[in-house]
Amino acid sequence: MWMARMSVVTSALVILSILVGASVDHAAAAGLSYEFYKESCPMLEEIVRKEVTRIYYIHGNAAISFARNIFHDCAVQGCDGSLMLKSLPGHEGEQASERNFGMRNFKYVDEIKASIESACPGVVSCADVVILSGRDGIAMLGGPHFEVRLGRRDTREFSRSAADAILPPHDTDVDTFLKFMGNFNLSIPQAVALIGAHTVGRTHCIHLVDRLYPTVDPTLNGTYAEYLKKRCPTPNPPPNAVLYSRNDRGTPMIFDNNYFRNIMQLKGSLRLDNALYLDPRTRPYVERMAKDNSYFFATFVEAMSIFTEYKVLTGNEGEIRKQCKSVN
Ligand SMILES: *[C@@H]1O[C@H](CO)[C@@H](O)[C@H](O)[C@H]1NC(C)=O
Ligand SMILES: *[C@@H]1O[C@H](CO)[C@@H](O)[C@H](O)[C@H]1NC(C)=O
Repeated sequence: MWMARMSVVTSALVILSILVGASVDHAAAAGLSYEFYKESCPMLEEIVRKEVTRIYYIHGNAAISFARNIFHDCAVQGCDGSLMLKSLPGHEGEQASERNFGMRNFKYVDEIKASIESACPGVVSCADVVILSGRDGIAMLGGPHFEVRLGRRDTREFSRSAADAILPPHDTDVDTFLKFMGNFNLSIPQAVALIGAHTVGRTHCIHLVDRLYPTVDPTLNGTYAEYLKKRCPTPNPPPNAVLYSRNDRGTPMIFDNNYFRNIMQLKGSLRLDNALYLDPRTRPYVERMAKDNSYFFATFVEAMSIFTEYKVLTGNEGEIRKQCKSVN
């Protein structure tokens, strides 16, 4: 009697665990999860954190590059590692797009990927390495630390023209910007928080001079315009990325809400930066984020989780690249 009941219970458990197992597998195949590499690469997050820390102390700006990679990869057909693919003879990749001008330090992403490959070969996508290294880069710069869902797969498709068509130009306006962010289902405060990443990094003179010459953009702080003219002394800067101005003169290497205080004084490098303060739709959030760093961080993290999960490849789609710079 006892035995019989046991076996009924046991077989019920077996059936239950088959069902649970099936639904777990299905969930993993269908999407992303916080524990995606728990079995297949348990040291992953530690490896990336160590690598990002190591690289940060060699080249602090690389942490900013890692953060930028997230935006520039995910914006173009979802976070799929497409940004990392080098141009081939006769086929230009996203890195060749004018919209990605000045993006650099891609080699470090491949260094991180190589460390991961030696611990768990063929398992972790470059798309996820972009997300994890960007996330850790933001934390190294003093920004918020947050958990991310993983399990993205890498695309084999990449083209300069996709980046040209999708990434907003440097002189974008608030309407275009909000529409662009709306495509990712980001709210206005989330969009404002994401652009707060301009608290680090630099703007190249080729993207500044049209606000300085022949006449100074009236939405630019006059004192600040004089400084920018010193940084960019000629209306025709050289086409390489040598002349630039830091986005946040106060704390250029710290991920904080100083960006919002700057744009309230009309000291944003890009037209859009100041426009976010001048536009009544975005101004209340600029003012609130300028006052409240934890509101900025919390909204930024919300925005990142939406933005980084938009239209990703999962399951059997795409591939797991061996190195980030080329398809397998
Ligand atoms: C878009 O955002 C709204 C509000 O946050 C949410 O209810 C909706 O499910 C989201 N839609 C998609 C497709 O993610
Ligand atoms: C422009 O910058 C100066 C110097 O930093 C500052 O004192 C002034 O308030 C700013 N102007 C505006 C309109 O915010």
